[in-house]
Amino acid sequence: MPESDLEELPGVGPATADKLHDAGFDSYQSLAVAAPSELSNTADVGDSTAADIVRAARDAADIGGFETGSTVLERRNEIGKLSWHIDEIDDLLGGGIETQSITEVYGEFGAGKSQVTHQMAVNVQLPQEVGGLHGSAIFVDTEDTFRPERVDDMVRGLPDDAIDATLEDREIEGSADDEEAVDALVEDVLEKIHVAKAFNSNHQMLLAEKAKELAGEHEDSEYPVRLLCVDSLTAHFRAEYVGRGELADRQQKLNKHLHDLDKVGNLYNAAVIVTNQVASNPDSYFGDPTQPIGGNILGHKSTFRMYLRKSKGDKRIVKLVDAPNLADGEAVMRVQDEGLKPE
Ligand SMILES: Nc1ncnc2c1ncn2[C@@H]1O[C@H](COP(=O)(O)OP(=O)(O)OP(=O)(O)O)[C@@H](O)[C@H]1O
Ligand SMILES: [Mg+2]
Repeated sequence: MPESDLEELPGVGPATADKLHDAGFDSYQSLAVAAPSELSNTADVGDSTAADIVRAARDAADIGGFETGSTVLERRNEIGKLSWHIDEIDDLLGGGIETQSITEVYGEFGAGKSQVTHQMAVNVQLPQEVGGLHGSAIFVDTEDTFRPERVDDMVRGLPDDAIDATLEDREIEGSADDEEAVDALVEDVLEKIHVAKAFNSNHQMLLAEKAKELAGEHEDSEYPVRLLCVDSLTAHFRAEYVGRGELADRQQKLNKHLHDLDKVGNLYNAAVIVTNQVASNPDSYFGDPTQPIGGNILGHKSTFRMYLRKSKGDKRIVKLVDAPNLADGEAVMRVQDEGLKPE
């Protein structure tokens, strides 16, 4: 939303609109869910003006509307499950990674978070009968870790039945043991991953909006966007907002970013996977090494949280934490040349 739109709200002139914008409030939505005290603290407006602004934004944003249980059910019936092709993990998740939700994958460096995002950008493209969602993927790359070569490895490493089904679905002649066919498939899979590098946190936030546009453009195509990955969600934010005084600001920006990502997932029935590094050093400034960096706000927003832990060699322990309607539990996977594999 252009800044000027905020000026439509009572009590908001150009200067206040600027301040609100700088504080991360750049839409009616973000204002509508803010506490008036947040506004008066961060955007330097008086208490009663802040209350007026929030009230007006609530009306304008049309939030807090009720819908019937059957409408909710209808939308929930559309939820897709994206398979890992690792039974133990799929079982943990009740079938796979859900669309219309944010899944946070967190763990220390080298735990395999980026491997998960690459593997899912492949798996999402498979036909439903072999665990995919017959969709394309958007990949927001903030650490310059996206590697098409890894996608290549992972396509070739898929089970034969998944390759065969996908070849048939895409009308590529041949089968899993036919090199030319698999080469063509690799190319086709790469064509359906839309990658953008985010150079800083503002750019990253902008890319969430672009992702929404892109998903909208592909909505009625043969391969609608069914996966949005942000790898890493938090790295730029951590690097840019370093002082204690900037913590509130960082959380607010992250909150808005997650809200935008969530929206893409809900509007377009896509799975959203975000990664988050945790420090392995217990003396870390960020405290408990098993806690993801975004702290509470991330905790509330990401509906599924998966903690990856290094084990012996290529083994990784995958733990499901605090998922709604699912029991906490652990599973094991291996990070191999061919991709993520069962134990
Ligand atoms: N081609 C490959 N073959 C086998 N294993 C690989 C291959 N590429 C990466 N790996 C494994 O994946 C690990 C790196 O995982 P990944 O990059 O996903 O970590 P990460 O959790 O994203 O870390 P960071 O927090 O630094 O981004 C390596 O330690 C290696 O064990
Ligand atoms: Mg990584």
